[in-house]
Amino acid sequence: MVPSPRVIWDGIFQLRGRQPNPPADLEIFEGVITQHPEYAGMIDVGCGSAETISELARRHPRIRFLGVDASGYIIRQDRRKARNLPNVRFRNDLLPKLGRVQDRYEIVSCMHTLHYVGQIEYALKRLFRLVESGGVLIFNYPNRFYYFDRRRALTLKDPSAAQNREYVLNRAAFEPLLSRRNLLTIRKIGRVLDRAPIRLRRFSVYNIVLAVTNRRNMRAS
Ligand SMILES: C[S@@+](CC[C@H](N)C(=O)[O-])C[C@H]1O[C@@H](n2cnc3c(N)ncnc32)[C@H](O)[C@@H]1O
Repeated sequence: MVPSPRVIWDGIFQLRGRQPNPPADLEIFEGVITQHPEYAGMIDVGCGSAETISELARRHPRIRFLGVDASGYIIRQDRRKARNLPNVRFRNDLLPKLGRVQDRYEIVSCMHTLHYVGQIEYALKRLFRLVESGGVLIFNYPNRFYYFDRRRALTLKDPSAAQNREYVLNRAAFEPLLSRRNLLTIRKIGRVLDRAPIRLRRFSVYNIVLAVTNRRNMRAS
């Protein structure tokens, strides 16, 4: 039986230990904030060790940030690290339901996280429902190139490695991808959200960052 994402990710973060990561994708969010000085809130779903929102919170004290992650272990660390940042909070919760998140935000980000989520259409719709009128959802997504890459990386040449805890956890984390349950295309995302995604960045064939704006609500408001 595949363990729950909470168990998998607590295990992965405990194994990784304290690895300070540089804030990823910072310039993307800086760009959005610069273009929209009126934006007041950002939620980062699958925030992990929260380097990006912590740095954004330091630079933009008037914006409130919420980091959400499946791992209670990493959320406890994030809270400790950001204790001097009054405009950032954290919550332990899970896609696709995100039952503990009520508010809406002008920026909703979900970076390098949908790759691990099984009910992908539900997750996309849930993320988009968090977007405030006039706001934007920014994310990258699991595509077939990423599937081939992970399948190759996680194909065991030495069967004894199947006992290796890191391998077991990684394999479990990527189960939705390896079973091809959560593969997406830009066209499919457009269909699910009923909005045409905008391509913000193409770092590689695996990593294409999309933006979907909540413009219809903007017109309606
Ligand atoms: C590869 S890390 C990415 C972290 C960060 N967003 C970044 O870009 O560096 C994936 C993160 O997604 C979280 N995660 C995995 N499945 C999740 C789910 N169903 N709901 C919420 N978070 C999840 C993991 O705990 C982990 O922190």
